[in-house]
Amino acid sequence: MENFRIELDADGIAVVTFDVPGRSMNTLTNSVIAEFPALLAKLRDDDAIKGVVFRSGKVGSFCAGADLGDLLEHAGTRMMPPPVSAQLRELELLGKPVAIALEGLTLGGGLELAMACHYRVAANSPKVVFGLPEVTIGLLPGGGGTQRLARLVGVEKALPLLLEGKPVPAPRAAELGIVDELAAEGEVLAAAKRWIIGGGSATARWDVKGYKIPGGTPYTPANMQAFMMAAAMLRKTTYGNFPAAENILKCVFEGIQLPIEMGLAIETRYFIKTFATPQARAMIRSLFVSRQALAKGGQWAGKAEAPKKVGVIGAGMMGAGIAYVQAARKIETVLLDVDQAAAEKGKGYSRQLVEKAAKRGRMTESAGNDLLDRITPSADYAQLRDVDLVVEAVFEDFELKHKVIRQVEEQLPATALFGSNTSTLPISSLAEASAQADNFIGIHFFSPVDRMDLVEIIRGTKTSEDAVARAVAYAVAIGKTPIVVNDSRGFYTSRCFGTYIYEGLEMLVEGITPALIENAGRMTSMPRGPLEISDDVANDLLLRVIDQTKAALGDAYEIRPFVPVIRSLVEAGRLGRKSGAGFYEYPGDGRKQLWSGLSDLAPVAKGEAALPDVEWLKTRLLHRQALEAARCFHEGVIEDPRAADVGAIMGWGFAAWTGGPLSYIDGLGTARFVAECDELAAKLGPRFAVPDALRAMAAQGDGYYQKRSKAAA
Ligand code: NAI
Repeated sequence: MENFRIELDADGIAVVTFDVPGRSMNTLTNSVIAEFPALLAKLRDDDAIKGVVFRSGKVGSFCAGADLGDLLEHAGTRMMPPPVSAQLRELELLGKPVAIALEGLTLGGGLELAMACHYRVAANSPKVVFGLPEVTIGLLPGGGGTQRLARLVGVEKALPLLLEGKPVPAPRAAELGIVDELAAEGEVLAAAKRWIIGGGSATARWDVKGYKIPGGTPYTPANMQAFMMAAAMLRKTTYGNFPAAENILKCVFEGIQLPIEMGLAIETRYFIKTFATPQARAMIRSLFVSRQALAKGGQWAGKAEAPKKVGVIGAGMMGAGIAYVQAARKIETVLLDVDQAAAEKGKGYSRQLVEKAAKRGRMTESAGNDLLDRITPSADYAQLRDVDLVVEAVFEDFELKHKVIRQVEEQLPATALFGSNTSTLPISSLAEASAQADNFIGIHFFSPVDRMDLVEIIRGTKTSEDAVARAVAYAVAIGKTPIVVNDSRGFYTSRCFGTYIYEGLEMLVEGITPALIENAGRMTSMPRGPLEISDDVANDLLLRVIDQTKAALGDAYEIRPFVPVIRSLVEAGRLGRKSGAGFYEYPGDGRKQLWSGLSDLAPVAKGEAALPDVEWLKTRLLHRQALEAARCFHEGVIEDPRAADVGAIMGWGFAAWTGGPLSYIDGLGTARFVAECDELAAKLGPRFAVPDALRAMAAQGDGYYQKRSKAAA
C-alpha cells in the first residue's frame, strides 16, 4: 500500500501510519480512498491483528480532510464522489477495537475517519485542532460527520460546529466529547494502545442497544430550540443562496432519531444533492483550489527570490501594518517617516499587536521580541541603501509621491524594486518620477493589513516581468495571496467594488426605500449593504475619487444623479462611520440606524416604485459587479479568471457562494447573463452594456471556465 504502513507489535496491535507520499499533509485523495478496501480487508482478515491504532506519518497533522483538488473533478456534476461513508462504516464494524492517536490538525474527512474509530486519544495541546469545515466551501460532511458528531456530543453542541465549520482545540474537543482521552505530547500512541490492551470495545457506542445521545432526542425542548435557532441563523447568513448549511441541518434533524445506518444513508443522499450544485463546484474551485494556487504565486511561483530587507516609507495606518506582517515573516524592515517620533509611533502599532497575540497565547515573548527587533524606525533615507524592496505608503498625494520616489531612489541600490501602495493613482503615471520604471510596480494592500490576506499587484506599462515575479515572491513570503493586474483606474478591486456602492446609490435616487436597498445587498450575501459600505469607505473619499475621475476623463465620464447626494452629505459633515454620521447614524455602542434626513436629500418614490421586488434589486447589485469584473477581464486589466474570482471574494467580500463574479456569470450561463444585462441596459442605461467579447462568448456557449467552442478551447 502506498498511503498506509502497517506494523504489528508484540501485543497484536496493528499500528497503521497514514502517510500520503510527497505531501506535507495527508488528505483523502482518490488514491487513499481506492486503497481503503484493501486496508480494511487486511485488518479484518489477519488473525494476528487483535486491535488497530491509526496515527499520522506527518508532523503536526493527522489529515486535512477530503482532497479538494480531486473532489473538484466531480463537483457540480451528477457523478458520484468516491464512497468514503460506506468504507468508514466498514471500519466501524471491523469486529476489532480501533483507536486513533491524534497529534495534529484533524479536519473534515480526517475527523470523520477519527469518529469512525472506537476511541480517540489526542495530544493535550491547543495546537491540535478538530473541525468539520465543509460548510465553508459549500459542502456537507459526507463521511458520516453529521451523524457521528451529533451522536457523540449531542444535537445542541454539534450544530454550531457543523454549521459554522470553525475548528476547536484538543482540550475543548475533549470537553465536548469529541476526544475520549487527552495525553501528553509523545504519549498519545501509548495511550491508544493501553486502551486496546485494557479491553477496549470493538462496538461503536451508538451500535450498543440503549445508547443515549447526550442531550437526548431531537424532541427535547433544548434541542428543538437549538434547531430553531440554527435555522434562524442560517436565514440570516445564507439567505438561501447556497444549500449546504440547510442540508446539514436536515441531515441531523432527519437522521438523529434513526439507527445510524439509516442516518448515514440520509446523509449520503443530501451529500450527493449538495455536491451536485453549481455553488459547491464554484466554491471549492475559488475558495480552495484557485486560492491555494495563487497563494503559492500562481504562474510566477518560484520565478524570483523573496526580499530579505524591505524599506517601508510612511509609518501611518498602512505602513505600520505592512511593517508588522513583514517582520512577523522574518523580513528585516526599515520603517521611515518624516521624523523619528512618527516612525516610532508606527512601530508602536506592531508592539500593540505583539502584546495582544501574547495575551491570547498565540505568540511567545521571545518571538514577539524578535519580531520587534526586526523593525528599525527611522527618518533617515540613507537607511535604504541595502534594501531589496521599498514599499511606499505616504499620503495619497501625487506630488508628494513623486517627490518621495525621487528621494528614495537617490539611496536605493539600482537592483531594488519600488512598490507603491497607492489605492487610486495610476501606477504608470507615478512611475514617470522613477529613473527605473521597469522596477516600479503597485503593491496594493488592504486594511487592516494584518487581517486582509489579499495583495493586488499592479503592473505599469513599463514594469518588467522580473519585477512582477519579485513582487509576487514578496507577497507570498509575507503570507498574502497576490493577484496580478494591469494598470487601470481603480485597478481591479476598487473599480469593481465601486460599482456595488454606485448601484446602491442609483437605487437611492430612484426613490427606492433605503432599508430595502440595504437588505437587498445583504440578501446577496455581501457582508454589508451598499450605503453602509459607502459610510465605511468614507463618503468624502468616494466624492474625491469621483471628482478626480471627472477631472481626468472630462466628457467621457458622466456625473450621475446620485453625486449631489453624496456632496450634500459631505458638506453637512456626514463623512461616514469615521465622523459618527453618514447614510447612517452611529449613536455609539456599535449601534446604527439609517438616517431619517435622507428623504430630504434624495427623492422618495411612492408605492411600488419605492418598494420594488427585492429579487430585481439583488440582480442589479450582483450583475453590475460581475459585469465590471468581466469588462476588466476583456480589457486585459485582469488576465486570469481565478485571480478575478479570488480577488473579488477576498478583496471586497463579493458573495462567496457564487465562487466570484466570473464564476457567477458561468453559473447563470453566459447567454442568460447577457440577456439579463441587455434587459437591465434597456431600462437603466449603458452601465449595463455588455462587452462585445462577452456577447461573442455567450453566442458560442462558452464561459470563463467552461469552453464549448473549439476556437475558445
Ligand atoms: P496615513 O495618513 O495613515 O499615513 C501616511 C504616513 O505617511 C504618515 O505617517 C505621514 O507622516 C507619512 N509621510 C508623509 N510624507 C512622508 C514623507 N515624505 N516621507 C515619509 N513619510 C511620509 O495614510 P494611510 O491610510 O496609511 O495610507 C497610505 C497610503 O496607502 C496611501 O497612498 C493610501 O491611498 C494607501 N492605501 C490606504 C488604504 C486604507 O485603507 N487606508 C488601503 C490601501 C492603500
